[in-house]
Order: sequence, then C-alpha cells, then structure tokens
Amino acid sequence: MKLGIIGLGNMGAGMALSARRAGLEVVGHDPATRARAELEQAGVVLLDSLEAVAAEADVFVLSLPNSDIIEQVVLGEGGLRRHARPGQILLDTSTADPASTQRIARALEGSPLRLVDGPVSGGPKAAHAGNMTMLLGGDAADIEALAPVLDALTGKRVHVGPVGAGHSAKLFNNLLCGINLVAVGEAIRVARAAGLDIEQILDGVNAGSGRSGVTEVNCPTWILNGAFNSGFTMKLMRKDLRLAAEMIAKSGASAPLSNEALRLWAESAAALADDEDFNRIVDFVEPNQ
Ligand SMILES: NC(=O)c1ccc[n+]([C@@H]2O[C@H](COP(=O)([O-])OP(=O)(O)OC[C@H]3O[C@@H](n4cnc5c(N)ncnc54)[C@H](O)[C@@H]3O)[C@@H](O)[C@H]2O)c1
Repeated sequence: MKLGIIGLGNMGAGMALSARRAGLEVVGHDPATRARAELEQAGVVLLDSLEAVAAEADVFVLSLPNSDIIEQVVLGEGGLRRHARPGQILLDTSTADPASTQRIARALEGSPLRLVDGPVSGGPKAAHAGNMTMLLGGDAADIEALAPVLDALTGKRVHVGPVGAGHSAKLFNNLLCGINLVAVGEAIRVARAAGLDIEQILDGVNAGSGRSGVTEVNCPTWILNGAFNSGFTMKLMRKDLRLAAEMIAKSGASAPLSNEALRLWAESAAALADDEDFNRIVDFVEPNQ
C-alpha cells in the first residue's frame, strides 16, 4: 500500500516518518514543507503536483490547515477528484469543518474516491511516534481497508459514525478542552490567591471527579512547570474553537457556558499571539477583571 501525504507540516511530516518506519511506501506533496531534508533522508519521495501524487498513491492522507484548502485540494481544478481511480481512499486527518467534509463527500458521490475523516490528537510528538489518537467518520469497510495506515499512525482509534462525524467529535473534544482550560486557569488563580499549593490541590482533584485531561496531562506537562511547549498553537486552537462556535450557532441549542468560554478565547487574541502555546489561555484575564 502506497501513501500519498498532502500537507507535510508539523503533523504531516511526523506521519510520513511514522509510515516509513512501519515499512509503507510514502510519497508527499507540500510546496512549503520545512522538513524536506529529513523526509527525503527517510525515503519519502516529494512530488511537485497533486496529479503526480494521485498517479502513485493508493491512500491519500491530508494534513492541511483548513477546509477551504481541503476543498481546493480535493475538488479544485487539478484536485484529487479529477485524477482518482477505483480503490483509492482519502483519509482527512486535518481538523476541519464537518459541514465542508459532508459537502466534499456529496461531491465525491459517483467518483471512485472514497472519503474517511480521521482528525487526530496527540500533537506533533504523537505524529512522529505513530501513536496519535484518531476519531474516524466513514464506512466501516473503508476504515477496515485503511488498517495498515491506521496501524502505522495511531495508538488509539475510535469509529464515531458516518463521514463528518470524526470532524464533529474532534470539535466537541476541543470545545470541552477549551472550556476546561479556562476553568482550570481560574482554579489555579484562586488557589494561589488563597495561599494554597496548587500542585497538592491538583493531586487531590486528580483523585476525584473534577479531574480531566487538562488537570491530569496539560497541568503537569506544560502549565505548572512553565514549559508551554505542547506544539499546538493558539492559532490552531482558535481555528478549532471558531468551528465549534459555528457548530453551536447552527444547532440553535442553548450553550451559554460554551459561548462565554469561546468569547474569552476569541478576546485573548489581543494579548496572546497566534504562535503562543494554546495552554497559555490559563493566564488570560480580561483587562477589566
Ligand atoms: N499541531 C498540532 O498539535 C495538531 C494537533 C491535532 C490536529 N492538528 C491539525 O492538523 C492539521 C495540520 O496541522 P499542522 O500543525 O501540521 O499545521 P502546519 O501549518 O504545520 O502544516 C500544514 C502544512 O500544509 C501545507 N499546505 C498548505 N496548503 C497546501 C496545499 N494546497 N498543498 C499541499 N500542502 C499545503 C503547508 O505548507 C504546511 O506545511 C491542521 O488541520 C491542524 O488543526 C494539529
């Protein structure tokens, strides 16, 4: 099985290296990759066009910044749809707009190209280690056919529904993580102001029902030690939360807590630059508070 990876940034380059280590043939396309030398040394063949990738690969893996670019790469002039042949599957590992993913799936009806959405977590470290967590949306048979690729790239995978469901589940995950980071930031400030030892307080929380991924992983790994080097930026998290805000608005459901946390994330842009670590939100206090 030959992989064609489109988008060789922090995540895509790590996936390409993991796939090579697992013995898969890998070609790739990204005119602006910063990892060219490392990739070529590992045996990844870099190609100049989508057409060249389409001619060689059995499975396309996308790791791209946003849905506009994904739509262009799949459906645009010279995109993958135009060059598809039977048996090819497209696995979109980007964090993307589920409505766009469903639009792409509809546009691919009648084309030989099959679509599975498989957004990931774990960051560049897990992409390089081949142990990302992936939330899969698509047909069970297509996901089964991807097994050698999924074995190479993931440590854990969950099939959450039809096409688009993976991207929806990822937005819910990042929404809940974003709300939790704001809440934990408040808990840290309150505990410190009360003269308490926050590390000991979190030991207690992590033994109880208030614990979360943020208290168990983010706090010790990136926040309390001041490292703030998770590899996941404010820019990417704000993108995900903008998509979550759209999902909430479209649903029409009442979500005041989510909306308040999303407002804080959006306002933090004035104080926390795009390239800052996303965990920095714990330090954000509105100017008038
Ligand atoms: N970085 C993380 O921790 C993380 C974690 C989970 C999910 N994600 C998601 O994974 C995706 C990729 O994230 P990243 O951190 O690798 O971003 P990145 O900006 O490092 O990489 C994106 C790459 O896509 C390339 N690209 C853009 N347009 C292209 C095109 N038309 N054809 C080919 N290549 C093109 C860019 O040159 C860039 O190298 C995003 O959707 C992001 O939200 C990132």
